[in-house]
Amino acid sequence: MVTSAWHRRHILSLQDFTLPEYNTVLQTAASFRQVLSRGTKRVPSLQGQVVTNLFFESSTRTRSSFELAAKRLSADVLNFAPASSSLAKGETILDTAKTYLAMGTNLMVIRHRQAGVPQAIATALDHLGAGVGVLNAGDGAHEHPSQALLDLFTICSLTDPEGPTAEFLRGKKVAIVGDILHSRVARSNLWSLTACGAEVHLAGPPTLVPALFRNLGPQVHWQLEPALVGADFVMALRLQQERMDANLFPSLREYHLNFGLTRERLGVCRPGVRLLHPGPANRGVEVSSDLLDDPQTSLMSQQVTNGVAVRMALLYLMGLPPS
Ligand code: CP
Repeated sequence: MVTSAWHRRHILSLQDFTLPEYNTVLQTAASFRQVLSRGTKRVPSLQGQVVTNLFFESSTRTRSSFELAAKRLSADVLNFAPASSSLAKGETILDTAKTYLAMGTNLMVIRHRQAGVPQAIATALDHLGAGVGVLNAGDGAHEHPSQALLDLFTICSLTDPEGPTAEFLRGKKVAIVGDILHSRVARSNLWSLTACGAEVHLAGPPTLVPALFRNLGPQVHWQLEPALVGADFVMALRLQQERMDANLFPSLREYHLNFGLTRERLGVCRPGVRLLHPGPANRGVEVSSDLLDDPQTSLMSQQVTNGVAVRMALLYLMGLPPS
């Protein structure tokens, strides 16, 4: 297991991740993917440690994936369910975190609809000298580091599953299409893809892809085709209507006509182009159903499968004694 480039207690953002850190995550995840292909899929790495999933916002993939990853590492796992918790009686988020700390939690995985909540909890726990690692499992429209890392792992594993390296992405064109404005996945992917040398293009209507994003490095397009021409990878993003408080596009039908990904539209990409989607997907809106289900092009299932190995790697690395 390669762990030399690891000195983090928390994983809150990818903004300051280095290339050696990306390679450490990729290589550690590749080792755990091998573990997951064995008859006995469990290792004792986190035996005796407690991993607590604090999901204040709904999730299917991320929450279950972290639970399975922690169990595969032999940790004890606590899953917090907000609807049946003491939040309903007025308990604060921080007191909730402190409650789980008092039960012996070593690692906290936190999702919240407000940007900054995992960071705030990590800071508060550090002030208490808790020695607990906090992982941001998605905070508002800010970041979703583990999703971007599993996307990176899925892409970089395509040609060399046993030895994926971040350098694979150098010079590759990646188009991210859809609701960039509300997307934490897009922001985390921007940091990782750019740091690994990819040429990143964003596409969507101007209301969902503000020109300001150019300041972060990618090219911005308000039409689909220029982003897709010659692309090696295309990432489809869902319209996050639950985060929209204005009418940002005429209708779902109009949106699909202009920005929906179809097999025909991918014809201008590089031959062998692969499609990523973090899920959940709105079929027939950001992507056609037949394209999403086409295993020759779509990596969506592989992303979910790889998510367990990548999250095992992240929990393992965070659980290492401080160097
Ligand atoms: N990709 C993702 O974060 O999915 P969930 O909301 O289901 O966790």
